[in-house]
Amino acid sequence: MGARSLEELKKQYKGASSALAGAPARRGGPGRGPGGGRRGHPHGKPKNMKRTLSRLLHYIAVYKTRLIVALICMLGSTAASLGGSYILRPVINNLIDGSKSMEERLRYLLTMIFVMLGIYLVGVAFTYCQQRSMILVSQSAIEKIRNDLFEKIQSLPVRFFDSNSTGEVMSRFTNDVDNIGVMLDNSVVSLISGAITLVGTLTLMICTNVWLTLITLFFAPIFIFGGSAIAKISRKYYTAQQEALGAVNGYIEESVSGQKVVKVFNHEQICEKEFSFLNEDLRSKQIGAQFWGGVMGPIMGNTSQISYSLAAGIGGILCVLRGFDTGGLTVFVNFARHFSMPINNISQQMATIFSALAGAERVFTILDLEPEPADIPSPASTEGMKGYVELKHVTFGYDPNKTILKDISLYAKPGQKIAFVGSTGAGKTTVTNLLNRFYDIQEGEITIDGVSVRDYPLDDLRRSITMVLQDTHLFSGTIMENIRYGRLDATDDEVIAAAKTASAHSFIMRLSDGYNTVIEGDGANLSQGQRQLLNIARAALSKAPILVLDEATSSVDTRTERHIEHGMDRLMKERTTFVIAHRLSTVRNANAIMVLEHGEIIERGDHDDLLTQKGRYYELYTGKKELD
Ligand SMILES: Nc1ncnc2c1ncn2[C@@H]1O[C@H](COP(=O)(O)OP(=O)(O)OP(=O)(O)O)[C@@H](O)[C@H]1O
Ligand SMILES: [Mg+2]
Repeated sequence: MGARSLEELKKQYKGASSALAGAPARRGGPGRGPGGGRRGHPHGKPKNMKRTLSRLLHYIAVYKTRLIVALICMLGSTAASLGGSYILRPVINNLIDGSKSMEERLRYLLTMIFVMLGIYLVGVAFTYCQQRSMILVSQSAIEKIRNDLFEKIQSLPVRFFDSNSTGEVMSRFTNDVDNIGVMLDNSVVSLISGAITLVGTLTLMICTNVWLTLITLFFAPIFIFGGSAIAKISRKYYTAQQEALGAVNGYIEESVSGQKVVKVFNHEQICEKEFSFLNEDLRSKQIGAQFWGGVMGPIMGNTSQISYSLAAGIGGILCVLRGFDTGGLTVFVNFARHFSMPINNISQQMATIFSALAGAERVFTILDLEPEPADIPSPASTEGMKGYVELKHVTFGYDPNKTILKDISLYAKPGQKIAFVGSTGAGKTTVTNLLNRFYDIQEGEITIDGVSVRDYPLDDLRRSITMVLQDTHLFSGTIMENIRYGRLDATDDEVIAAAKTASAHSFIMRLSDGYNTVIEGDGANLSQGQRQLLNIARAALSKAPILVLDEATSSVDTRTERHIEHGMDRLMKERTTFVIAHRLSTVRNANAIMVLEHGEIIERGDHDDLLTQKGRYYELYTGKKELD
């Protein structure tokens, strides 16, 4: 395979690593657009802004008092800043007032300097309080959103995780939540304080001189349209830059995690080439984004000089001809110069706000998802459950229109071992997914001790069925903690006994810290088989009446496997066991073997029965006929 073109690469890696791609919006800085972005709708505008806003308000409204304090402080700090500037008027007028003595003028000046200092200090205190209150409000709201999201994720059915990639879910927690945070403690403040400053400045300008205000306002559209035009260009480049960054990050992530495969197939050079395409693209987009982001400030700054010069020129004429006071002129030109600032700020913050609201909408979409089905009003008790499992004419499809399991019926008694065999994709794992209601069946019934699985509380049902899943997963923590995951109240001795049953004890003892060895990154420091042994130990610890082993020993050598089997058999004497195995020697001693093919049980019986039938099982066992 040759290197793919830039277009192909960008399409394939578009937001591939959304968790990494969009760093949270950078705070401040002219033209810096919003962060975030994900596959499908980067920087999209929220679809239902009103609803999203009202839900967000719900989160911050809890901190009403703090919000009011923040608002008052915002008003105070803006008033102090404007008032401090306005005081210059009497100060200058007094300073150039020839009718007063020099001593009088200086004393007044000195007094006013202290007054100004006082006003500015009060302003600083207000700003400090406002920021503190707002950050407290926003971070508390964000904490609540993150908690709600995590809680929701814990409550979602397996279907959600099967159809959403980890990266996608991660990016809800990282990009989206972070952007909401930036919006709350940065953009919203800028927006409100910008509006207050604008109104305040305008009022003071009118108080100072109505005519000059009208002339300045005449130029205001230039700032508004000029500012938003540049912001638009800069946003376009910023979006492109984020997409390019997403592609680069996605590519890096994939090649680092798949580095062994890259090496096995000698793809290093192609990788380098493809990466350099993406990297070059990122460079060009970054140049545009940085340029237009950086140019915004100076351009707007220089344009504001025009209104400054005009106000100064015309104000000067008014001073000479109409007796306009010099102090008034000084403060006016100062206001005229800064008049455009809040307008620019507001137009820039709008982009961040829209993007954060779009993120908030994605978060709320997850919060609105249906959780796992609620328990029925008066559920059956799992207390003293024996483990009589029955599947009656079960039909199921992950997609209801596409049947995977067809009319499955079987019965298992405590102490029995039922095996599922069959080719890859036949539906073995799917059957076990139905027992503990990872998925609900469409037709038929599954009962345990004669009671439908739907009538048990979900938690208790899952506690009654221990599963060793086909894909192992170990959590960060010690080996002891990982095994104890099977039953949290187990003592150390019980954990060790379970490890012995699972034949894991001897390898654990050979590790440097024994049971206290810390497992890194899903057990990267263990072999595949050792990871499986720990998973089995977890199951051995549990006291559930039903046990499901899905390819639990597929990576373990046959001798160890036999050891485990003996151990588990002892353990499961009174319980019901379902075993799935490709290695048929594992299931030889099962009480009943179900041969699944395309979602149907095509043969059933014990090992000897099935061999004499000379059917599918015979083919699989003896390898007499190639599988299709
Ligand atoms: N989460 C899912 N969503 C949709 N389809 C799925 C899902 N999981 C499995 N399938 C489909 O269901 C069928 C049965 O899959 P299942 O995992 O039960 O096979 P299996 O018999 O356990 O195979 P293997 O021996 O490879 O583990 C397959 O065709 C598969 O494509
Ligand atoms: Mg499977």
